[in-house]
Amino acid sequence: MDLALAGEVAIVTGGSRGIGRAVVSELLSEGVRVATGSRHPGECQGFDAGPDQLLVMPLDVTDAQSIDRFVAQVVNHWGPVHMLVNNAGKAYPGTFDTLTDDDWRRDIDVKLMAQMRMARRVLQDMPDGGRIVNMTAIFGKQPDPRFFASSVNRAACTAFTKTLAKAVAARGIRVNAVSIGFVYSGQWEGKPQEFFQETVKAFSVPLGRFGDASEASHAVTFLLSHAASYLTGVILDVDGGMAAYL
Ligand SMILES: NC(=O)c1ccc[n+]([C@@H]2O[C@H](COP(=O)([O-])OP(=O)(O)OC[C@H]3O[C@@H](n4cnc5c(N)ncnc54)[C@H](OP(=O)(O)O)[C@@H]3O)[C@@H](O)[C@H]2O)c1
Repeated sequence: MDLALAGEVAIVTGGSRGIGRAVVSELLSEGVRVATGSRHPGECQGFDAGPDQLLVMPLDVTDAQSIDRFVAQVVNHWGPVHMLVNNAGKAYPGTFDTLTDDDWRRDIDVKLMAQMRMARRVLQDMPDGGRIVNMTAIFGKQPDPRFFASSVNRAACTAFTKTLAKAVAARGIRVNAVSIGFVYSGQWEGKPQEFFQETVKAFSVPLGRFGDASEASHAVTFLLSHAASYLTGVILDVDGGMAAYL
């Protein structure tokens, strides 16, 4: 299927590893011009694209000035931004007893506040018909005390996605989310094989394995594409069947 994305401009946050890296690669292979960044932009390397198709710059999604600099440079270089993938993120694991106020603040800052700040800035330069995809977690819809802060703050990302979708629909801009269960990525690197087996058992993942980063990026690319032209405010689970709700 021709996704008709070639020539468009996308910003993907956190493209150095894991799901973000897979999204960058897939969009580049579709002919999209991609700008990506992270706090360590030197790690956003090894893509099969030249400077006419790929921009890599420093970006800290918890810092409004860094976001402003990043987006302004993309717009100066390529013009309007058609697509935003709010992928950058980090987990602050812990139980209700162990999470500190700082953990809570940092977690909501890198999840909800980062997505909100990026969307607010990019929407200034997004033409009608643009698309935003937010990365979230199924714990935001199926809370679990083993991932306490993620459960609470990803619920906010879900509400943010659906509310923003309604706010910008009149411009023809679609806002959706991909809700991850367990996908193998940078954050799980170095864990022993038993960890993955025990986790899929403990969380009853019907497909019996972690997903691959490319399985998450396929869902992102679909939501960005014109094949999803009547979808907005959708939270698409990529979780091997783990979510128990209807
Ligand atoms: N993998 C899963 O099982 C899973 C489950 C649920 C949700 N998710 C969500 O999916 C998204 C991608 O996760 P992943 O597993 O692929 O993670 P990952 O492999 O750890 O990669 C995270 C990316 O985000 C960047 N990043 C982190 N903090 C940042 C900041 N303040 N500013 C800019 N970039 C930042 C990292 O680069 P730097 O460190 O260089 O900044 C890196 O490029 C995240 O939002 C994560 O919470 C993943």
